[in-house]
Amino acid sequence: MSKTISRRSVLQSGIAATLASALPPIAFADDLDYIPAVPGRPNSPTSDFVKTSTAEEVTAGMDLSGMTALVTGCNSGLGLETMRVLALRGAHVIGAARTLTKAENACASVDGKTTPLVVELTDWPGIVDAGNQVAEMGVPIDMLILNAGIMALPDLHQAHGIELQFAVNHLGHFLLENRLHDQVVAAKAGRVVVVSSGAHRWAPAEGIQFDNLSGDKGYDPRQAYGQSKVANGLFSRELARRLADTSATSNSLHPGVIPTNLSRYQPDREYDMSNPRFKTIPQGAATQCYVATSPILDGVTGYYFDNCNPAVPSEHMQDDQIAAKLWEVSAELVADYL
Ligand SMILES: NC(=O)c1ccc[n+]([C@@H]2O[C@H](COP(=O)([O-])OP(=O)(O)OC[C@H]3O[C@@H](n4cnc5c(N)ncnc54)[C@H](OP(=O)(O)O)[C@@H]3O)[C@@H](O)[C@H]2O)c1
Repeated sequence: MSKTISRRSVLQSGIAATLASALPPIAFADDLDYIPAVPGRPNSPTSDFVKTSTAEEVTAGMDLSGMTALVTGCNSGLGLETMRVLALRGAHVIGAARTLTKAENACASVDGKTTPLVVELTDWPGIVDAGNQVAEMGVPIDMLILNAGIMALPDLHQAHGIELQFAVNHLGHFLLENRLHDQVVAAKAGRVVVVSSGAHRWAPAEGIQFDNLSGDKGYDPRQAYGQSKVANGLFSRELARRLADTSATSNSLHPGVIPTNLSRYQPDREYDMSNPRFKTIPQGAATQCYVATSPILDGVTGYYFDNCNPAVPSEHMQDDQIAAKLWEVSAELVADYL
């Protein structure tokens, strides 16, 4: 049966509705179409999972007991489903949300072992505190799932003088990973899973506008989202390079196009769920759960996944020089908190 989900039906933010009229419509569809597996790369780790596979299906039969995962943005959309399914499979999930109430409520809503944690990704001292709290738990982090995100704010907002989508989607996660790095490396085979997007292709022509990270020299909501998502992929790629001598890995992914609160700034957007280009939330959480857990991916690092299979990102997202520069610039920006 055809089911249309209105953006309004998933909105929780009242402010969004007033801001939304200023924003041009976002084309989710054709420019995010499925990209085939990496051609010619030896040992490309393919799976039989497809676009409709769910997070429960890709983890079916797994016993993750004894393992610890940390999921940012655990109170909504893909993060909540990821926490639910990893906890269902026996993992201890540290559920990170912007406030303690949100984290506690989300953790209480799922079965299994969970621990709420406050991570507001614009609050750099708060990220340091969160890292210290996790360190005090004294456990290796087997799965660090950098999932939280915001998309296409109609007007320029900043944190620490940095455009907000870049600050939240990339920079906060960059700092969090650095604070948790030793615990990821201490795991038997720690996995960093960075939730990027096919919309990384919306990035500016130069990939990352290093001379305009503030957005003061010009701001386009959709381009800024693309820039933050290309940054997610580049960060993951450079991290994979830096982890080469360890047992830990880093991969990034596109989850699909899914009706969640991510579209809070486009409240009139409608998702015709009979259209196969859209995914449900259980389907949308599948690739990140797969990349975090599949035994097929032991040692696999530096890839970008889509529909639980390797995919080819934009040329920018394969550019090791931009990746290295992004790391350097990001480290400078948060230097006092590293
Ligand atoms: N849905 C899609 O179609 C789609 C497509 C491609 C990629 N993605 C990516 O998938 C990831 C998950 O998105 P979603 O679709 O599940 O969206 P969502 O339902 O809106 O969830 C986003 C999460 O990020 C959190 N968050 C926002 N700002 C934050 C901040 N400053 N500090 C810490 N957490 C913050 C939100 O917390 P609050 O609820 O407190 O705001 C929420 O928990 C994002 O990285 C997104 O870019 C989604």
